[in-house]
Amino acid sequence: MSKGTFYITTPIYYPSDKLHIGHTYSTVAADAMARYKRMQGFDVMFLTGTDEHGQKIEEKAKAAGVSPQQYVDKIVAGIQDLWKLMNISYDRFIRTTDDYHMLSIQRIFKTMYQKGDIYKGAYKGLYCTPCESFWTESQLKDGKCPDCGREVNYAEEEAYFFRMSKYADRLRTLLRGGEFLQPPSRVNEMINNFIDCEGGLQDLCVSRTTFTWGVPVDFDPGHVVYVWLDALFNYTTALGFMNDTYDDYDKYWPADVHFMAKEIVRFHSIYWPAFLISLEMPLPKRIFGHGWLNIDGAKMSKSVGNVVDPVILASRYGVDALRYFLLREFPFGSDGNFSNELLITRINTDLANDLGNLVSRTVAMVLKYFGGTLPENQTAAAIDGTSAIDGELVGMVNALRGMYETQMEKYAFQNALTEIFRVTSRANKYIDETAPWVLAKDGANLPRLAAVMYNLLETIRVCAVLLKPFMPITSQKIFEQIGAHEAVQSWDSAAAFGELPRNATVTKGDAIFPRIDMAKELEILAGEL
Ligand code: MSP
Repeated sequence: MSKGTFYITTPIYYPSDKLHIGHTYSTVAADAMARYKRMQGFDVMFLTGTDEHGQKIEEKAKAAGVSPQQYVDKIVAGIQDLWKLMNISYDRFIRTTDDYHMLSIQRIFKTMYQKGDIYKGAYKGLYCTPCESFWTESQLKDGKCPDCGREVNYAEEEAYFFRMSKYADRLRTLLRGGEFLQPPSRVNEMINNFIDCEGGLQDLCVSRTTFTWGVPVDFDPGHVVYVWLDALFNYTTALGFMNDTYDDYDKYWPADVHFMAKEIVRFHSIYWPAFLISLEMPLPKRIFGHGWLNIDGAKMSKSVGNVVDPVILASRYGVDALRYFLLREFPFGSDGNFSNELLITRINTDLANDLGNLVSRTVAMVLKYFGGTLPENQTAAAIDGTSAIDGELVGMVNALRGMYETQMEKYAFQNALTEIFRVTSRANKYIDETAPWVLAKDGANLPRLAAVMYNLLETIRVCAVLLKPFMPITSQKIFEQIGAHEAVQSWDSAAAFGELPRNATVTKGDAIFPRIDMAKELEILAGEL
């Protein structure tokens, strides 16, 4: 039985260059959320894609000596390969060069024009091409783009404008009230800098005439639609809004959450709701602006030349290790400094030592003491959950799903993972406390030994279920090793301790996360990245 729908999106990325771990971060976060909601029984729509129009792409293609379409086709294929490698379970991939999307954008633009929300005028001002963003003189920082710090160009051209100013009050109320923009720390910045700033909220230029790589305005062909209007509506055209290619708009809109990093919160929390209000459409329930992955305090970006390639990291350490690191190391709403040392330390401490050891020790002991299969009657007889040590472990496992859920619902991935790893640490300590190797010396202790093993396997199982959204391949490996069949891999089965059959059979497998030699790896990475 479906619990309802859940619609989640990533930004659609510019295929101007290949993507780095900053983009991977947003996409992995959305994937973890999508997998978590699917596991809970929601009917999930997870959308990602590429934002292919605009001046920046046109210039890049020209420099490469190919057509813009050829240029983006190649990069988009690479992006799709990256998402396949990273195990991204998107349901739909939209390209803004898809015919259905372009047709929808023309219809949307015309509808706004006919309603009087778009009018013709002339633009005189500044433009940041890398950000595809309009600025006024007073908004610049030291004469440069306040978002990316790069040069802006003067632009003067005939243009269509969207009556953004008309929506200032509605937007202020939207941002101030409730939960629309998360984390809440971003609200004041938006209101102060863009709505209640000097001169107030300005009408927005929504067409360009000095280049051609975009969606043509059908009733005025010299104009192409401003790339941000073209891009933002992807979240609805991909569901079939204003086109017949898909028929999911009524089912999934409004989105439950749009994920993005903080630099494009402005477009999503001001432009996007204003466009939607203009068309009398429901607004997304939430937009979440997460922090940046920085390198030495500076945002990772191609133009700065400090990018880290996810393909190299995933191929050296595994996709799951990288996915885990990204969501465990940094609080989702804040910036974080990426370094290879941090990555390797996190893999060694949490994944190799803590989780990996717990699984391999437990499986090895069940093999050694019971030939791989727990003796059902002894196990069942000895689990009373009343001894203090057992009680504490079982209590933690019983409480885990609820605590995890509370954190996941707040997109607090770091905290959700911390809850799981508190339990794996406790289980490792439980091995030391119960000293199975001592119990094994006396045949009279076999029922107790079986109970200890069962408690460990069951703890591992519940952790592996809750790790599925983050490390799907690893969870599967763990299930195979501890003999947890499909029925006990589900969300429901993680609600409480005791679902694993009492006569579980384990299978020896490879170490799920081999330890990494830090010094050696740092040297190799310095050469590769
Ligand atoms: N095309 C627009 C988005 C349109 S959405 C309707 C765009 N594209 S982008 O390729 O520049 O991607 C920006 C997004 O990539 C960020 O908002 C974030 O989700 C992700 N990131 C890119 N660099 C990042 C970091 N260094 N750190 C964290 N996220 C990063 O903007």
